[in-house]
Amino acid sequence: MQLSLELIDRIAQTIQSKIPSRPRIGIILGTGLGGVAEKIQNPIVIPYQELPDWPVSTVMGHTGQLVIGDLEGQPVLAMQGRIHYYEGYSMQQVTLPVRVMQRLGTEILIVTNAAGAIHPDFVPGDLMLITDNLNLAGMSGLNPLIGPNLDEFGPRFPDMSQAYDRQLCALARKVASENKLLLREGVYAGLSGPSFESPADLRFLRIAGADAVGMSTVSEVIVARHGGTRVLGFSGISNKANLDGNTVTLHEEVLAAGQLIVPKLDTVIRGVLRLL
Ligand code: HPA
Repeated sequence: MQLSLELIDRIAQTIQSKIPSRPRIGIILGTGLGGVAEKIQNPIVIPYQELPDWPVSTVMGHTGQLVIGDLEGQPVLAMQGRIHYYEGYSMQQVTLPVRVMQRLGTEILIVTNAAGAIHPDFVPGDLMLITDNLNLAGMSGLNPLIGPNLDEFGPRFPDMSQAYDRQLCALARKVASENKLLLREGVYAGLSGPSFESPADLRFLRIAGADAVGMSTVSEVIVARHGGTRVLGFSGISNKANLDGNTVTLHEEVLAAGQLIVPKLDTVIRGVLRLL
């Protein structure tokens, strides 16, 4: 797929023709976290298959549809299920939804994911505010902005010094504290997957400053920032990363932890939307 403004606009127009207003907030719901979209009012549901050139998620725990409507009075567009690089899509396909959101007028992107805990204090079921990321896939040459720059969106060399919006992070902390909800904070390391990390990988990530690890999010955030979209990010801690090599990581436990995390994520996201 060659990414072009025409392609992005064709998809944006298809979506716009089905919805009454422009979504101000985009939400990407990670593995097992799709339930957050259930509170959206007056929902218009668009399965990914109905959108031309929209990549379809193939992973269990990702429904694969857009839910567009109102959440706490804000017009939102939520992706119930994302697309990962390891499914065989290009980085440009993985991040195409973010480009479409930008053309629809989205100002804020809320990204969520399931992640393994590298920080020793984090336990499955914890919610972590992402304060920064380690772009490991990008460091290995998998940056979604490789190729001709789309000047309509942003500059060739976008800044990433404050990728996760400080004001939005402050709102998330405020909501968590008002609701007496423990909100962890930390650095998310984004790998390509799909194999989980080896114990040596994880010890390396810990030394490098990562608190949680997963297989998504970072490329979406880069594209969001390139286009000037403000970002708020959360990791739902689904498992303890296995630094000592004595436990096995399973996709099933990642899905099960989602059940614990959805109510917390729901509280924080809706609280932040009320304050915007
Ligand atoms: N590693 C990578 N990705 C993940 C993990 C993990 O331990 N848990 C959920 N997504």
